[in-house]
Amino acid sequence: MSKTPIIRMENVCIRYGRGPEILSNVNLSLEKGSFHYLTGKSGAGKTSLLSMMYLAQKPSKGTVSVFGNNVNFANRNALAMFRRRIGVVFQDFRLLEHSSAFDNVALPLRVCGMNEKEIRKRVNELLKWVEIDRSPTAITSTLSGGEKQRVAIARAVINRPDVLLADEPTGNVDNDIAPKLMKLFVELNKLGTTVVIATHNENLIKEFCYPCIHLKNHGVTIINPEDGDEYAEI
Ligand SMILES: Nc1ncnc2c1ncn2[C@@H]1O[C@H](COP(=O)(O)OP(=O)(O)O)[C@@H](O)[C@H]1O
Ligand SMILES: [Mg+2]
Repeated sequence: MSKTPIIRMENVCIRYGRGPEILSNVNLSLEKGSFHYLTGKSGAGKTSLLSMMYLAQKPSKGTVSVFGNNVNFANRNALAMFRRRIGVVFQDFRLLEHSSAFDNVALPLRVCGMNEKEIRKRVNELLKWVEIDRSPTAITSTLSGGEKQRVAIARAVINRPDVLLADEPTGNVDNDIAPKLMKLFVELNKLGTTVVIATHNENLIKEFCYPCIHLKNHGVTIINPEDGDEYAEI
């Protein structure tokens, strides 16, 4: 029996207003537990594709299904339930700027009703891992871009989501911490999380070889590490 894909797109098109199609007739099926990069030039549609996976945007044509459910037929409550199972690292972070780093990361656990003692343990441990141990109580607006990005990553992974979507999550951090953050995604993936990471970071793609969902000419191709030259040119 074939596995149910955790995210599926059928003949999906996306356009903004009356503008041209950004993506046309995309067919994509991501199995549970898979790990993909999302690549393509700036403006190719990576953020747009992720926003459909996160259910923040509906396709202008076609069908998106998550966890086996066609989201065209899902009501607001169902969409909210699906979103709770999806961790997202946004390109512009979208943190609560006036709250502390700790409170930002604790948020998904508080929403689930976890007790504060357990929350403190988990959040401090993860903040240490992403090297924010210096300032867990610092107000987010005072953090650097790289620190905010690491807080955003910690918030996205803290409750071990079924799906992790990350939009250029290593774009603002120093080169030495980027592989460490990738290891966090790899560990999460080993625990069963399906991961999609939009990135331009060739070093990471070379070091951690996973297939790429490559956007080009409004379409999607999957390029595997075995594809040799093609993979090397991403
Ligand atoms: N909210 C929006 N309104 C209008 N056009 C948009 C919007 N978001 C993205 N676009 C356009 O869609 C195209 C793809 O953008 P995006 O998905 O951000 O690509 P990428 O993340 O690969 O850089 C770009 O031409 C961009 O200008
Ligand atoms: Mg983008």
